[in-house]
Amino acid sequence: MEQVQKIENKVSLPPAPEGGWFPVDLRCIDPERFAPCDLYRKTGQSGFVLFSQKNLPLDRSTRDRLLAKGLYYLYIQYDDSSVYFDFMKNALIEVVRDPNTSSEKKALAVHASCREILRWAFEEPRAPFVRKAHEVILPTISLIMHDDRATKHLIHMTAYDHSTYTHCTNVGIYGVALAKIFYGTGSMKKMESLGPGFFLHDLGKCRIPIEILNKSGALTPEERQIVNRHPDDGRIMLADSGLLTDEAKIITGQHHERDDGMGYPLGLKENDIHPYARICRLADVYEALTADRPYHNRHSTFNAFKIMHKHFTSDLDRKLFEIFVQLFSA
Ligand SMILES: [Fe+2]
Repeated sequence: MEQVQKIENKVSLPPAPEGGWFPVDLRCIDPERFAPCDLYRKTGQSGFVLFSQKNLPLDRSTRDRLLAKGLYYLYIQYDDSSVYFDFMKNALIEVVRDPNTSSEKKALAVHASCREILRWAFEEPRAPFVRKAHEVILPTISLIMHDDRATKHLIHMTAYDHSTYTHCTNVGIYGVALAKIFYGTGSMKKMESLGPGFFLHDLGKCRIPIEILNKSGALTPEERQIVNRHPDDGRIMLADSGLLTDEAKIITGQHHERDDGMGYPLGLKENDIHPYARICRLADVYEALTADRPYHNRHSTFNAFKIMHKHFTSDLDRKLFEIFVQLFSA
């Protein structure tokens, strides 16, 4: 296989929504297409000014100039969110299916789109946004299942910020890629039920206050109790969205359980923990070690594997780990 270059998907954390204005990632908007709704820029003096009008193509040179300056976000009005995400989803499906688009470009497109839609699902954690996220996750799963080269790019295309939606995007990719090897490539039907669980495993975290989520010191017992609720909260939110498959229920509910019974919320042990949850746990631990967090700088892949190696008897699954390591070989 041709050497796959390590790609750093340069990201900056998006600005926060302001009133009825929501930031959208310019990198998810193909300038060849007509804008699905009015797109705005935020300027220092004039507030929000029209950048590109609905049903007109984006000006590619202006778009590229903004990106070159590191200006990655435009704004849409809240009422346009549904039409915007349908546009993004349809564009993504076309890119994934296009035989003339390279695996690398496909990987870039699905990574950016997943982060974008998961960001919305976490910032606006209501059923319609969770369902939209699910619609974008499905073509991503299809790409991982059918395109090994794109999968390699995705594995090496890690964004390092500590946001929950970036974490979930990365864990989703690692989880599906690992499950593909573990269960075999003929398991597309299973993966459509299983995969969204990996991407949405931490949905319940949106109910944790941000100051607890980003706390750099030790949590108090009360704060720990709040954090430990997120597997159950995530399960309830998926049920409210109509997306709680048996697989997603297992993954969200058990992804913090440990073999030694020291996990949460139930303190399950060994064989009582389902392999789906073990896959998610492994991906979750690796992602947490290799991303910047308020309480540590990221570890290299090599160091993360060394740390994980010490936890086989108490926590992580050795057999799955050996498969997981293979994913990172060039
Ligand atoms: Fe979690």
